[in-house]
This record gives sequence, structure tokens and C-alpha cells, in this order.
Amino acid sequence: MKKIMINECKVRFRAISRNESFSRSTAAAFAMQCDPTASEIAEIKTAVSEAVTNAIVHGYRDSAGDVEMIMRLYEDSTLYIQIRDRGAGIGDVHAAMQPMFTTAPADEERSGLGFTVMESFMDKVRVRSAEGRGTTVTLEKKIGGKSGAR
Ligand SMILES: Nc1ncnc2c1ncn2[C@@H]1O[C@H](COP(=O)(O)OP(=O)(O)OP(=O)(O)O)[C@@H](O)[C@H]1O
Ligand SMILES: [Mg+2]
Repeated sequence: MKKIMINECKVRFRAISRNESFSRSTAAAFAMQCDPTASEIAEIKTAVSEAVTNAIVHGYRDSAGDVEMIMRLYEDSTLYIQIRDRGAGIGDVHAAMQPMFTTAPADEERSGLGFTVMESFMDKVRVRSAEGRGTTVTLEKKIGGKSGAR
């Protein structure tokens, strides 16, 4: 059965680090309408933060641009958050999603765990990417809520 979307919000912001906290607070604000628990909010914020940071530090490593975030809520309390950049893209998505895989230079001290964190906090993580064209990460989580079945 097709899911019914009940709300949608799109934001676009510059790919600069000060927008990392903006984006995670924005996602949390959108998610509030489905009555999430504090831990669900924390998980959503962390996953969004990882995806947006990736867009900024990897996608636009050698260029400037915007990040687009689309948030959707479905009738069954499933939250979708799509984070898109039009930056460098990823040659091998499967390899990039392995724990400890990073292309960042050693002095940046990245651990290569961003996708692993997203996958542990969200129900689904999908990545579409093409080199030179950019990356779209779709996060999905069903919100149980304070009064929900969890
Ligand atoms: N939006 C993106 N654009 C281009 N490359 C990306 C993007 N997101 C991820 N990558 C690639 O995937 C790799 C793995 O990403 P992941 O978030 O798991 O680790 P990391 O960012 O390297 O380290 P950490 O997230 O732990 O600081 C990155 O090193 C980079 O090569
Ligand atoms: Mg990362």
C-alpha cells in the first residue's frame, strides 16, 4: 500500500560548517510533530549531522555550493530526511560505507564512521552518488514516540 505523506519541508543552505548545527536543529524541529522520545531526537540529530558534515567536508572539499535537505513525514510516523549535495560525488558507494573507510587526509583525524553511525541510528540509509555530480543520502526512521509501541 502506498504511504501517505502528511507533511514536507525543504531547506537549502550554504555548505559551510556553521550550518551543521542549523541543519540538525531544523531536522529535530520538523521531527517534533510526531512526538519523538528524547533519544529518537538525539539519534535523528546525530545522523543528520553526519550526512550534512559529509556533504560539506567531502562533497564540497574543493568547491563551494549548497546543501539541500528535504524532510517528509508519512501517516505511519515514518520520517524521511534527504540530504543532497552537488559536489564531488563518491566513486564506490559500497566501499565508502564500510566502517573505518575514509578519504580524508590524516591530519583531519576522521574515523570513517559517519555512515556506520547513520545506519545504527536510522532504520534505513540509502546513498545515491555519481562522481562529479554529487551525492544524495536518504535517511528513514519510524518514530515510535513517547506514547508509541516501543
Ligand atoms: N557527500 C559526500 N561527498 C563525497 N564523498 C563523500 C560524501 N559522504 C561521504 N563521502 C565519502 O565516504 C567516506 C566515508 O564517509 P564517513 O562519513 O563514513 O567517514 P568520514 O567522513 O571519512 O569520517 P567521519 O564521518 O568518521 O568523520 C568519506 O571519507 C568520503 O570519501
Ligand atoms: Mg563523515
